[in-house]
Amino acid sequence: MSAFYHETVVHVRHWTESLFSFSTTRDPSFRFQNGQFTMIGLEVDGRPLLRAYSMASANHDESLEFFSIKAPDGPLTSRLQCIKPGDIVLVGRKPTGTLIVDNLLPGSRLLLLSTGTGLAPFASIIKDPDIYERFDTIVLVHGCRQISELSYGERVVEDLRNDELFGQLLEGKLHYYPTVTREPFRNRGRITDLITSGRLFDDCALARLDLATDRVMLCGSPAMLADLRTMFEARGFVEGNHSAHGQFVIEKAFVER
Ligand code: A2P
Repeated sequence: MSAFYHETVVHVRHWTESLFSFSTTRDPSFRFQNGQFTMIGLEVDGRPLLRAYSMASANHDESLEFFSIKAPDGPLTSRLQCIKPGDIVLVGRKPTGTLIVDNLLPGSRLLLLSTGTGLAPFASIIKDPDIYERFDTIVLVHGCRQISELSYGERVVEDLRNDELFGQLLEGKLHYYPTVTREPFRNRGRITDLITSGRLFDDCALARLDLATDRVMLCGSPAMLADLRTMFEARGFVEGNHSAHGQFVIEKAFVER
């Protein structure tokens, strides 16, 4: 049996010159936990060319969705950005990853902190009805340089709020906080600064960071992860994984090329 499913592209949407999302068919035997990633790619010259991608769709969705950058000289994304409905994408059969709710200790507030395409696993997690059972409050933060880069996340949240089933579940529970750093916007600044200053919580009319109740998931650039890890560890948060649950978990936003 091949290590990959051959899935058909159903829909492609280009959000900016450097960001796009696409959905594919999903083999019914492909099971994953919301927040996980798998290898995906294309067959190039008869060989698979692959990168790790988080599923942006939820595990109850019929199709798969992915959110990607377009790197002009990236071996995979330079090709992947040209896909169109009907094309075949390889999807690895073995999803994995640490950004799963089960790796966190119980708590009452879940902070999902992302930059760039690091939003993808959280797009999956906020579609999981289970997290609204486990947590009273969920705060989704997405930091980007420009407003245009927020558009995929804005759309995911808007669709969820308008969803017949999810709309009510989310109400009063999900706080979505998009922020940009390089042009004027209603929310400005890096996630690190927004947490340190307390501005994130004040703007959402929420209590300040609290080790006793807050559980955190981080996904973004290596620099963002390093700074946030240092910040949370200094406040007593312990990193969790499959064998030892903690107050926070980390995954880097994979696709850089
Ligand atoms: P900034 O514009 O101040 O660099 P990138 O595209 O470089 O990954 O950045 C995505 C977003 O993450 C930008 O808003 C960027 O802010 C921010 N960012 C970059 N480095 C860090 C960091 N070390 N901690 C927090 N946010 C960061």
